[in-house]
Amino acid sequence: MNDTSGGVGEALAAIAAAPDLTALNDLRVRYLGKKGELTQRLKELGSLPPEERRAAGQVINAHKQAIENALAERKAALEQAAMTATLAREAVDVTLPGMAPEPGGLHLLTLVTNRLLDVFTSLGYEVAVGPELETDHYNFGALNFPPDHPARDTQDTFWTTDGRLLRTHTSPMQVRYLETHEPPFKLVVPGKVFRNEAVDVTHEAQFNQLEALVVGERITMADLRGAINEMALALFGAGTKTRLLPTYFPFVEPGAEFAIWWTNPRTGKQEWLELGGCGMVHPNVFKAAGHEGVTGFAFGFGIERLALIPYGIPDIRYFHQSDLRVLRQFRGAL
Ligand code: FA5
Repeated sequence: MNDTSGGVGEALAAIAAAPDLTALNDLRVRYLGKKGELTQRLKELGSLPPEERRAAGQVINAHKQAIENALAERKAALEQAAMTATLAREAVDVTLPGMAPEPGGLHLLTLVTNRLLDVFTSLGYEVAVGPELETDHYNFGALNFPPDHPARDTQDTFWTTDGRLLRTHTSPMQVRYLETHEPPFKLVVPGKVFRNEAVDVTHEAQFNQLEALVVGERITMADLRGAINEMALALFGAGTKTRLLPTYFPFVEPGAEFAIWWTNPRTGKQEWLELGGCGMVHPNVFKAAGHEGVTGFAFGFGIERLALIPYGIPDIRYFHQSDLRVLRQFRGAL
């Protein structure tokens, strides 16, 4: 750049045409930087004869001022343009229809569990929950499973490295509750249980059970039968029957498996719905929990069973796949 207005004109034109802030900064350095053209000329003032210095200095300063003004003006214009572009890019059209959140619903297993708890609390039962990570003592030992007894094989499970296990049933709460409560009482315990299963349409490695325990004086099998009948009546209405078939569980004596006779609304057929196990609490269980001279009954069953068959679900694995096409069908089912 020379000191004619043409030189400044070129600089001002370049600044006015700078396409972006980086280019503008390059121009600032080129004209005003330490090694810039104007700075260079200021340095050279000293070599001019003294009578020319003042006038030349004034010219240079005027050019400098003009360039600074042009830089500031262009910078403001570029920033304004960037802002306008951002606003245009990020504009929100508030008139577009919103994305309505899909209303949630309770899982069918939660609905069935809540229904069961309603039935039992209305019959005067307390509700308690217990730990899913259990000790061998509560899951097996105190429930009268001797070490190495084959009955343990029917409930294979997952163990932690410190010797605890994922509970295989809700029955450990029989002992835990007896240890901390004085009979008489009526208790139900809903909860997750776990088994090392070959998973198939009716068997999962994680499922839910509901346990019932009633303890007091002179409780008999007739009371057990009555409790199961009451549950069947409340769930399926008049006309249901119940059946107990003898079987073995170490923690009850005598023990039975129980089923409810009901009319399947899908097929219109009457059939037995096999639910779970039951029996009179074994004296060894009372002893392990520090009680003597009391009697009681217990029963426990798989909650999935009560949801699968009545609702015609063909595969137990659907419950935990979180597939909305399945789950939506049961919104508000109960
Ligand atoms: C028990 O778990 C006993 N604790 C029940 C009991 C309680 C007996 C109190 C006596 C007194 P069992 O292993 O049979 O028993 O399991 C009970 C129910 O859980 C079965 O009838 C079935 O409905 C359900 N169940 C068992 N294994 C699975 C599985 N892998 N997937 C889904 N449901 C299962």
